[in-house]
Amino acid sequence: MQTPFLRCTACDRTYALADPVWRCACGGLLGAVSDPRFDRDGRRPPTLWRYREAMAVLGEPVSFGEGMTPLVQVQDTRAGVFYKLDYLFPSGSFKDRGATAMITHLRSIGIRQVVEDSSGNAGAAVAAYCARAGIACDIYAPAHASPGKLAQIAACGATLHPIRGTREDVAAAAMEAAGASYYASHSWNPFFFQGTKTVAFEVCEQLGWRAPDALVLPAGNGTLLLGAHLGFSDLRAGGVIDRLPRLVAAQAEACAPVCEAFRQGLELPVKVQKRETLAEGIAVAEPVRGGQMLRAVRETGGEMLTVSEEETMRALRRAWRAGVYIEPTSAVALAATERWLDGNPGGTVVVVLTGSGLKATEKIVELMSA
Ligand SMILES: Cc1ncc(COP(=O)(O)O)c(C=O)c1O
Ligand SMILES: [Zn+2]
Repeated sequence: MQTPFLRCTACDRTYALADPVWRCACGGLLGAVSDPRFDRDGRRPPTLWRYREAMAVLGEPVSFGEGMTPLVQVQDTRAGVFYKLDYLFPSGSFKDRGATAMITHLRSIGIRQVVEDSSGNAGAAVAAYCARAGIACDIYAPAHASPGKLAQIAACGATLHPIRGTREDVAAAAMEAAGASYYASHSWNPFFFQGTKTVAFEVCEQLGWRAPDALVLPAGNGTLLLGAHLGFSDLRAGGVIDRLPRLVAAQAEACAPVCEAFRQGLELPVKVQKRETLAEGIAVAEPVRGGQMLRAVRETGGEMLTVSEEETMRALRRAWRAGVYIEPTSAVALAATERWLDGNPGGTVVVVLTGSGLKATEKIVELMSA
């Protein structure tokens, strides 16, 4: 079996896994290269660490026993639609998948302090796992993010830096601050994706080691989308499945740089003027891995769909009424699923529900009284 290593997506330069790098010397994005193995021993504890051999990270897990979130069949709809309840993670969003893997690795290579920027959920996840690992962390977030998410970051002991400005201003402030520390960015850091890919492993195992026909998810920086692509590719390389599911990525019309590029047949995200949206978690105008996101969806014969604020609101209310208490961003995937099913009936479709409604109580109170 080959030892995993990091490779630059721009110049092919390689680095040992233990190198404390988060991007290549050329400025390019790094990805981990490994030879995934799957031990399908169903007796392992029901956490995402049951796929340890397929995760290219070093060290003993920094873990709260996360993962193996429920996969539930949707009632009162077409057969074959399942919800993956990734809002049931310890910090309340799927970002724990990435945080447990990245912080595990960083602790093992001796990183004592990190800087991260986030719309809220990734920051909360990194803050929680840093608290567990005893790593100091500084989180940069938009000052206008959900107060619940900002409180969660600070409560977990991180130093919170609320930034007035756009999501892009927040990223720039964090990157500058990281000069003297380590930039544990969920969009740049290759180890984050070694965690988010476990969503594919879990869905596959929960379906009896079969891939679904399609996986629908919200996409901003693409950590879930690219993680899912990586995970299903690993399962194919490991001989578990023989084809990738179609990946269906959803963005809000108000900020859809990747969907727009998909529609126009372009290879990189287009420039957009971001408008106000309910989907704060995916309001990313300049996703650094946008090109990878487009390639991933195209490789699977998938689709990128935009949904309006009205469609998101309708999907959100329907989810709540069904007892599925998600935050507004997550409803974008539900709205997109309806579109997808209209055009592509049949098969097994899994929708990933990414964040808990408990994160956004103030916003939800406002929406309920509107
Ligand atoms: C609830 C929720 N869903 C989906 C996403 C999208 O994740 P990504 O930006 O990695 O595509 C986020 C990102 O913050 C989020 O908070
Ligand atoms: Zn490079």
